[in-house]
Amino acid sequence: MMLTRFIILSFLFSGVLEAKEIIVDIGGIVKLLNKGTSCERSLWGNSDENACRCCITKHHEQNPTKPQDSFAYCESKTYCDDAAVKNIAVKLEIASSPVDPETFVKAVSDSANVIRTVALNENELKQPDTPAGELSAKTAIYFLQVAAQKEIIKGDYAYALKKGTECLTVKKRNGGAQTLQLFSITLKSECTMNQGDKTIYILKEMKKPVEEVINLAKIKNSDLKRYLPKNNPKGIVIALAQQNLEYSFQGRSHFMSLLPTAAGKSMNDYLENYLEAKKQKAENLDKMKNDLKKASCGAGKEIAVFHEENMEPKKAIFGLTRVHGDLHLDNFFVDLQADGKIIVTLIDDETMEASINSRQSIGQDLIRVVAHATSRFLGKSALYESFQPVEYDEIFLKPLLECYAKAYPSEKLTQVKRELKKILTAPGTFNLLISQKVLYNPFAWSSIQSDVNAIIDAIQ
Ligand SMILES: Nc1ncnc2c1ncn2[C@@H]1O[C@H](COP(=O)(O)OP(=O)(O)O)[C@@H](O)[C@H]1O
Ligand SMILES: [Mg+2]
Repeated sequence: MMLTRFIILSFLFSGVLEAKEIIVDIGGIVKLLNKGTSCERSLWGNSDENACRCCITKHHEQNPTKPQDSFAYCESKTYCDDAAVKNIAVKLEIASSPVDPETFVKAVSDSANVIRTVALNENELKQPDTPAGELSAKTAIYFLQVAAQKEIIKGDYAYALKKGTECLTVKKRNGGAQTLQLFSITLKSECTMNQGDKTIYILKEMKKPVEEVINLAKIKNSDLKRYLPKNNPKGIVIALAQQNLEYSFQGRSHFMSLLPTAAGKSMNDYLENYLEAKKQKAENLDKMKNDLKKASCGAGKEIAVFHEENMEPKKAIFGLTRVHGDLHLDNFFVDLQADGKIIVTLIDDETMEASINSRQSIGQDLIRVVAHATSRFLGKSALYESFQPVEYDEIFLKPLLECYAKAYPSEKLTQVKRELKKILTAPGTFNLLISQKVLYNPFAWSSIQSDVNAIIDAIQ
């Protein structure tokens, strides 16, 4: 048992799929599937349909050119009888009477596969000034175009992706620690009925695709799904990939996730844009400052509502709850809508998986939000150091903490304040920050801690 666990763990952390191994999501059960995986009903939620999908997908993966054989093989299993096949066909919206074996096998396998392969012409990928196998802005368009033409990417923008350079501009960008390649995909004005350019997707290559994709698929199947955009959440939105894609170049696979862009701006961009505007003595500085305060308050409030909604015991101040787990200022976006509503979108959500089964302290999120501006990352100086402390408190810390505290029932405010202070200023917090592997400036952190105390005391 220990040994298997060790092998599975080492495999997971190596982060690469072995040959003929895929990640599947069948009826909400997410697993690695290879030749040795069992399709017994009992391992697939005691569901005939799931067991049948497993059988079809597994057989097809090993024998991709013979879908008829996969169909015949699985039909001989008790769990893959006519009724199961018919029900699956209805769910996949393909003809169910009679079922065409080839169509059926392909549809079942495509729907199970969490990462879809996009077969590209390798010659098209060779570009001057682009390292072998990486995409350039131009070949990223080609990649998306092929994926849309093959109907691997569906949805509202598929028509535009199919048109390629006629509709799209792509920019290469720098990503975070878990990102190998990053692009933003923009629709040209001609293709938005002249409503201006619109950035529709982020395309990112994952450094650890197996872990990331499995964790995100689990989030999608958990009760956190009520925060997914398609379920019209009100405050917090969890942004997940629309589609995971894979291409290969000279035998090496690249795993990409295609993410609809979050609305609004990241909290970090609000702060950096404001600093920049100040330097330029921009005319709309007052409005920017006002928006920044609104965004900080909105983030505080919505994060509190999210924490409270998921808290156990219910209504405890504070119990354990679901947390983002890596809630730094680049990992949430705030959108100030025209009607005053505020949407806070969480991105880079893989770490949320940890709190699905075992809830955690709100400190996991709050310490990261509050301290992130003091971190020095990849040689970049800390954002906090560019502000006067008084201003940083006024535009960010104060609105954030005040609106966080006030989102809980008002009769509990005294208790909320006491607990918040305990969590944010406990002597061990610096070690927690260090354990999160970012270099924080201890002096800046103690200065923030004394400000936090004063800010919380003044909340009424
Ligand atoms: N849904 C999204 N909307 C807008 N930007 C995004 C989205 N997902 C990722 N990004 C951008 O890509 C960057 C890296 O992605 P992220 O998922 O945070 O990976 P990492 O683990 O490398 O930080 C983010 O900091 C952000 O700028
Ligand atoms: Mg990130």
